[in-house]
Amino acid sequence: MLKGRLLLCWAAGLVVGFVAAWLLLAASARSGSTMVARSGRLLGVPVLAAGVLQRADRSPFLRGLTLERSPLAKDEFERRVLGVIAELERGPWYANVPQRDGRFLRQITEAIAAQYVVEIGTSSGYSGLWFALALKRTGGKLYTHEIDPERIRIARHNFRKAGVEDLIEIIPGDAHQTVLRHEGPIDLVFIDADKPGYPDYLEKLLPKVRPGGVILAHNMRRPAPSPEYVEAVTTSPELETTFLFMDAAGMAFTIKKR
Ligand SMILES: C[S@@+](CC[C@H](N)C(=O)[O-])C[C@H]1O[C@@H](n2cnc3c(N)ncnc32)[C@H](O)[C@@H]1O
Repeated sequence: MLKGRLLLCWAAGLVVGFVAAWLLLAASARSGSTMVARSGRLLGVPVLAAGVLQRADRSPFLRGLTLERSPLAKDEFERRVLGVIAELERGPWYANVPQRDGRFLRQITEAIAAQYVVEIGTSSGYSGLWFALALKRTGGKLYTHEIDPERIRIARHNFRKAGVEDLIEIIPGDAHQTVLRHEGPIDLVFIDADKPGYPDYLEKLLPKVRPGGVILAHNMRRPAPSPEYVEAVTTSPELETTFLFMDAAGMAFTIKKR
């Protein structure tokens, strides 16, 4: 009952906010008066922003709570890596994962104490840096595949700058061929390259993943995922899959059952 009323208030507030913002912005655009234009912009833009933020936070119970904050460095090593991560976040963007996804990559890698991590799609090394934060603690290594020589050059530079080059090996070339070099056991695979290629990567790497190991696949919402991949990870009795971050790019989180 209370929840219903709160939702009604939220919806009414949203509608009023958007209408007010629209009227103020329209008035400011039409008006010849600088004062009306300025006050229209001054009031309209924040109201519109508040409306958008309110829409993003659908639960009235979360109002006033900050859930996502900037990552905090525990020590000098993390400060250096997070510094490079922050630089990359200022751009240019090379189709890297969002920060939330990167943080999750670090969390899961550290949680399962991964020693052998395989990434398909290095790009500029943004996700690789998140893996490195975990691998420094677990004593593991990231083997990351990339086909584009220019991106390899940029990633190398970023890994050196962050001081994590010892934790990461970049494997150049077409990953459809180069993944065959892994003998396993692999603790974690992260697939984030050519979307139609996901089923092939899964087929080639799954036998090398240890029981209890993890397979993550990025872009399960956008760009469109491979239907064959989704089918493969959701219909096998050997696997258990859930879908994360589906309000953004989306990620499939699969474990190979023990
Ligand atoms: C979405 S980006 C990876 C982003 C990266 N994981 C990050 O978050 O920083 C995809 C990358 O996969 C690479 N790629 C595409 N097809 C590939 C292939 N067949 N073999 C290796 N790399 C490939 C692209 O060159 C591109 O840099």
